[in-house]
Amino acid sequence: MSDMYEAYASALMDTFGKPQLVLTRGDGVYVEDSDGRRYLDLLAGIAVNALGHRHPALLEALSRQAGELIHVSNFFATPAQISLAQKLQEIVGAEGYDASSARVFFTNSGTEANEAALKLTRLHKKGGRVLALAHSFHGRTMGALTLTHKEAYREPFEPLAGVAEFIEPEISALEAAFDDNVAALFLEPIQGEAGVIPLVYGFMERARELCDQHNALLVIDEVQTGMGRTGRWLASSPYVKADVITLAKGLGGGVPIGACIGIGAAGALFRPGNHGTTFGGNPLACAASLATLGEVEKLLEHVNEVSAWLTARLEEAGYAVRGRGLLLGVEVADSTAVRQELLSEGVIVNAPNPTTIRLAPPLIITAAELEPFVEIMSRRAAEFQGEK
Ligand SMILES: Cc1ncc(COP(=O)(O)O)c(C=O)c1O
Repeated sequence: MSDMYEAYASALMDTFGKPQLVLTRGDGVYVEDSDGRRYLDLLAGIAVNALGHRHPALLEALSRQAGELIHVSNFFATPAQISLAQKLQEIVGAEGYDASSARVFFTNSGTEANEAALKLTRLHKKGGRVLALAHSFHGRTMGALTLTHKEAYREPFEPLAGVAEFIEPEISALEAAFDDNVAALFLEPIQGEAGVIPLVYGFMERARELCDQHNALLVIDEVQTGMGRTGRWLASSPYVKADVITLAKGLGGGVPIGACIGIGAAGALFRPGNHGTTFGGNPLACAASLATLGEVEKLLEHVNEVSAWLTARLEEAGYAVRGRGLLLGVEVADSTAVRQELLSEGVIVNAPNPTTIRLAPPLIITAAELEPFVEIMSRRAAEFQGEK
């Protein structure tokens, strides 16, 4: 349907280049394009559609909430918003945090969750230095962009307001960077956009110690890794506890919603008037999120089991695999070529860096549904790994 691509180009800003496909419907772990071809969706809207497509629990929650109330302003509260904030308190409590001291600010996206976190760092230590990691990705709005490392994303928009200092994700660099003027350190437990790269052993623990020593906020961006993606609610919590946690992506199962959670003193920094958003905490999005989290809760063990199976099968085929749960990076010789080949074989993945394909399928996916992908990866292993 080439006319759709022409229509796209003539009506939308050219921020994403030519779309790979025009998608018209989805069902479970599959999506269908405008020519009626079906694809196995191993990207799930980039780690978003946790329950896949057209999940009955999500559909039921959306239609029920739409039948009651779709939107109010933040002059008013709604039961869905309050229940979701309580659910997030329960979730951080289950991950070892003091749930009663957690406070939630709802946003519409990951970048906005990080904007909120950035404003908290200003209130925590006015004029303080903000540290972020080389290869980080925290979003594209002007504040979050100051935390995002990739030069190509930042340079056209300079001067940026108050730029973070980027340090290599190594313990020695962390130790060298810290002093009492540091207001905050932002980190992702696994750098998703960089190519599914977990932080080195001991990095988060040392970051926690240094933040404590210098009264700095440890902000953990779990936008991509959180809410079941890595087989638990938060990828970071076995290692450290954050002062601020940011969430989005899988939080709404596909409906736009993000959250900035402040723990303890960090949760009490915003006062009335300090921050706001028209749509953040919208009851429709909150109802979708509640339904999503209710289902994800039952899937955490499943995510770990499927992940172990998939990792073992890919390793047997000779691939190096990184990541955790259902956020996996698979090393290949040329990721753009492999992504394209997989697409022509009916499988959607993406290529976050030149030698990695990223898998972030719906959390409901089964080994049986993954089998055709494993078959392709095994059959074409030599070619995908660059052996002649
Ligand atoms: C770790 C991380 N933080 C923030 C963002 C930005 O989220 P959004 O695209 O919802 O603004 C992303 C998106 O990829 C992300 O992976």
